Amino acid sequence: MGAIEFDGVAKRYGPVHAVRDLSVQVAEGEFLTILGPSGSGKTTILSLVAGLTAPSAGRILIAGRDVTHLEPQQRRIGLVFQSYALFPHLDVFDNVAFPLVVRGRPKVEIAAKVAAALARVRLDGLARRRPQQLSGGQQQRVALARAFVFEPDILLLDEPLGALDRKLREEVQVELKALQRDLGITTLLVTHDQEEALSLSDRIIVLDHGAMQQVGTPDEVYRRPANRFVAGFLGLANLLEGRVEAGRGLRLGSGELVACATGTRPEGSAAAAIVRPERVRLLPESAGEGIAARVRQDVYLGHLRRWHLDADAGQELVAAATDGDQSAAIGDRVRVSWSPADVWLLPEAGAAA
Ligand SMILES: Nc1ncnc2c1ncn2[C@@H]1O[C@H](COP(=O)(O)OP(=O)(O)OP(=O)(O)O)[C@@H](O)[C@H]1O
Ligand SMILES: [Mg+2]
Repeated sequence: MGAIEFDGVAKRYGPVHAVRDLSVQVAEGEFLTILGPSGSGKTTILSLVAGLTAPSAGRILIAGRDVTHLEPQQRRIGLVFQSYALFPHLDVFDNVAFPLVVRGRPKVEIAAKVAAALARVRLDGLARRRPQQLSGGQQQRVALARAFVFEPDILLLDEPLGALDRKLREEVQVELKALQRDLGITTLLVTHDQEEALSLSDRIIVLDHGAMQQVGTPDEVYRRPANRFVAGFLGLANLLEGRVEAGRGLRLGSGELVACATGTRPEGSAAAAIVRPERVRLLPESAGEGIAARVRQDVYLGHLRRWHLDADAGQELVAAATDGDQSAAIGDRVRVSWSPADVWLLPEAGAAA
């Protein structure tokens, strides 16, 4: 019983619109990530669900019940914040036991539940350690165990992995995903890390200046972004601007035709399209297709290589490939190509080309 419904929810702090007219439903058991830049309203949304902040407008329903005016302790919510906020004077066991103790659960039950929770986050042997005797990743797991030990309806996680180094973060991400799936607990995760959002979530809300830009599966927001902001926030994108030639594609300002599906767009209307760098092919200059360009920069990323290119018509383009799959050196003249199926026409109106 953990589904959440936001119904026209807004939060203002004086002149600041921290959250604007948010209407979205989170399914029971869903892992939903709120992704957005700093100050976009992510923490505010979690505070509204937790009841730490009251909305300026709208309603929040949990499992069908209007909780807009309920106290935080009446909401059955587990919270993990970026700073783990463990009690330094309590050992691991007592930290995890805390939510059960305040709920007045019997000692035997507490012992069993804490032991199970610690086993679940692989901290069995460390129950008598103090937080300061644990690594950052271990402390984070204690915070997680404390958040779910009392079987809350909803888990709210505010950048819980932000303080961990990359390797540890990836490890805890895998554990977090497995834990969430096993417990089947409705989870709202806040992050500004697009890879974390893409890898963990059933769906992602992309937020900018308090306004939801898009909600969709990782694949939808990455491959079919609703606008330029979403396209750019989810990773590098080649932005192509021009006018629609109905049934054929997009005629760029530079004169080239980019073939793509044009749907019901009217002939001659301004539009913008994106192509992700890993969908871009580099062809020899002699190839009879594609956009003529010159390699400006070549970036080695370990698992990938990325090329920054200047099209002859002035456009900047980016290509990426598994190292060894394509090759080009700085200064090389190439042709840049892609399949029409990899061109996504942004649903928003484009700037006039
Ligand atoms: N208590 C408050 N009083 C006044 N303004 C606030 C308050 N809390 C948040 N804000 C403002 O509301 C906006 C959204 O803040 P919020 O903390 O939700 O952002 P965020 O997306 O979590 O950012 P970050 O990634 O930096 O944590 C910001 O402009 C912030 O300054
Ligand atoms: Mg925040």
